[in-house]
Amino acid sequence: MTKIFVCRDIPDEGLKMLAKKKGLVIDVYKKDQAIPRKELLKRVHGVDIILSILTDKIDKDVMNAAGPSLKMIANYAVGFDNVDLVEAKKRGIIVSNAPSLETTKAVAEHAVAMIFALAHRLVEADGFARAGKYHGWGPQMLLGTDVMGKTLGLIGGGRIGTALARRMHDGFGVNIIYSDLKRNPDLEKFGAKYLSKNDLLKKSDIVSLHVPLLPSTRHLISTKELKMMKKSAFLINTARGPIVDETALVKALKTGEIAGAGLDVFECEPLIACNPKQTKELRSLKNVILTPHTASATEGARQAMSRAAATNILAFIAGKIPPNAVK
Ligand code: GLV
Ligand code: GLV
Repeated sequence: MTKIFVCRDIPDEGLKMLAKKKGLVIDVYKKDQAIPRKELLKRVHGVDIILSILTDKIDKDVMNAAGPSLKMIANYAVGFDNVDLVEAKKRGIIVSNAPSLETTKAVAEHAVAMIFALAHRLVEADGFARAGKYHGWGPQMLLGTDVMGKTLGLIGGGRIGTALARRMHDGFGVNIIYSDLKRNPDLEKFGAKYLSKNDLLKKSDIVSLHVPLLPSTRHLISTKELKMMKKSAFLINTARGPIVDETALVKALKTGEIAGAGLDVFECEPLIACNPKQTKELRSLKNVILTPHTASATEGARQAMSRAAATNILAFIAGKIPPNAVK
């Protein structure tokens, strides 16, 4: 008998796959909220597998609370910075994440939406129209910027970065440059040029972040990097909040060091910023678009993540290496 604790009710397709498998005991936290820490520590006791979501911090205490039966942590997310990998490895616990084609596409589409929303000042224009401020067409009213022919710089040339590059290059004639630890031939098919991070920051009209959150990527974008960017550039973050030094970003946006930002993730999520003053500032800036970590929030993507988590679990139970085992 294999006991699985599911930390939150997720879209059903993966759960149905697990329910079909004999010999599994599945306990799901059903409330539509992140499981309180105390409850999590209680419920994981004696389980073999935890299916966690990205807001659950799966650390040493959770692993201790589960006890020696715990063999796998299947994270329902592409990212896995919420799981203490070092501690899991020490205990021989397998960790998997849940990437999928659908999630890749959804996040890339969200980044496209943010780029155009910033360039065309969509949110600002919508607010303007709703507020009753539209009193007549004007040749200089709410002027935005053109996207075609501009340069998109990807920091991180993996699956999501590549999907974004394909759409922006093929659909909108945008030049692609990227920086990463290693080159990606798939990305270079769109003529993407491999550059150092500093060169990329200087040349990009749009900088989009597609790296995981690791100790080495925390505050990858801070004062120095923002200063290197063009004054006309936009920054898009659909990756993880702490990759950007939010204090430095707010300052750069206020002083016009960069032209705008599209943020789907935040440094102290679910807070919009780590302190009330900065939250107020970010909320009041017109050149910023804020979405509440919804880049992958499409029915298709969230079901695919559910199937991916279940596929990883079923592979593990069958004695195989889960397809998305995190190394
Ligand atoms: C979402 O942020 C994910 O990592 O899947
Ligand atoms: C604007 O609506 C135009 O016709 O140029």
